[in-house]
Amino acid sequence: MPATIIVGTQWGDEGKGKIIDLLAREATWTVRYQGGANAGHTVKRADESFSLHLLPSGAVRQNVTCGLAWGMVIDPEQLMKEVMALESRGISIRSRLKISTRASLVLPHHVARDGMEESRRPDAAIGTTGRGIGPAYEDRVGRRSLLMAALLDPNGEERLKQAQDAGIRRITQGTGGDRAMEWYVTPKDWQRWAEFLSPLLCDVSRELDAALRDGEHVLLEGAQGTHLDVYAGTYPFVTSSSTIAGSACTGVGLGPSRINRVVGVVKAYTTRVGNGPFPTEELEEAGEWLRASGKEFGTTTGRPRRCGWLDIPLLRASCLWSGVSELAVTKLDVLSGRPGIPVAVAYRVNGEEDTFPPHSPDSLQNVEPVYEEWPGWEPKEGPFKKIEDLPKGMREYLQRLATAVGVPITTVSIGPERAASIRCRIEP
Ligand code: IMP
Repeated sequence: MPATIIVGTQWGDEGKGKIIDLLAREATWTVRYQGGANAGHTVKRADESFSLHLLPSGAVRQNVTCGLAWGMVIDPEQLMKEVMALESRGISIRSRLKISTRASLVLPHHVARDGMEESRRPDAAIGTTGRGIGPAYEDRVGRRSLLMAALLDPNGEERLKQAQDAGIRRITQGTGGDRAMEWYVTPKDWQRWAEFLSPLLCDVSRELDAALRDGEHVLLEGAQGTHLDVYAGTYPFVTSSSTIAGSACTGVGLGPSRINRVVGVVKAYTTRVGNGPFPTEELEEAGEWLRASGKEFGTTTGRPRRCGWLDIPLLRASCLWSGVSELAVTKLDVLSGRPGIPVAVAYRVNGEEDTFPPHSPDSLQNVEPVYEEWPGWEPKEGPFKKIEDLPKGMREYLQRLATAVGVPITTVSIGPERAASIRCRIEP
């Protein structure tokens, strides 16, 4: 059976965790293919809530095998903490967790460098999550990374020492030399990591190939969102990995012919954490209202998210770049009670209108959104089992969205709980 990719179509925090958890009902595998502990996916089960940073969102379902593929950068301490936190809540994960030997390790000096680099550019800080993601990917492309495979190597400790000496030397050329010792992983910690993680290391790509040949249903789970992609995004205000659907193939080691479905997750409005352009951002009453109504505070950092209206030009670009075949719309309930809802359907640039973002990421700073006001709706008590149960304004919002982007909507989420979701097919 071919695999399904799930991608965020905005700047992350679209509610992918919930959608992946829903789709994982029919899946036997969920796999993360890029990023690291910068992600924050929230999954709700009955009255329990789980915040996952490294583990795939399918981890909460006992029958699902979870993969961390080679496109990822993995902080072992964070991973072990997450595994143990799930186990302490009665969810066994180790027997069904598979980690690629080729994924890169995130070490304490990467985290230190992330913070130091941010503080060196006070006027142009990216606003990173401070999880060491950028420096770990820099080491990967600079061919200096320590891979997970080192945990299996009898000389692993020596390789760790060399990698740390070189990494720490690179950061102590400036300030902070007196703190260098704090950034070394001790031999005791290394052995603890090896003991815990070695049994989980394997060839994830080969295991996935076997699962797909056996007709299993595989979900490849994107983290962050399209406009944080290191190539396609609002560079340099991006993360350090590629977040679009194509990255799933390179990040797990499966060819494009093995994929037949790409689900783009879109929040009914837009948010962004960290710096960078955001054309539909609302800085006053409406932004505050969206933040409060949508509880828009970061899962990883707790930072208040920047909030604004739905941006259709950005969404069109996301669907093009990832070949999105269907959309899952989240947090539609958050907009309830607003009499009319502004939605950006085009941009005005130098007096000209365009329905697609400008090709240069710098120009996104200067576009003026062209808004339409879509009808709102009054809050309505559920349960909502089918699209026809939703308020008329919500249905119209969904229909207009599908038509504007030219992609069908197949899932709608109207609350954080698993039950607050509807499977449907709204054609453009
Ligand atoms: P980094 O990935 O920590 O290097 O952060 C780079 C940019 O991506 C910053 O603007 C972060 O706020 C943003 N970012 C990284 N991960 C996420 C995420 O999972 N959701 C939303 N924004 C993220």
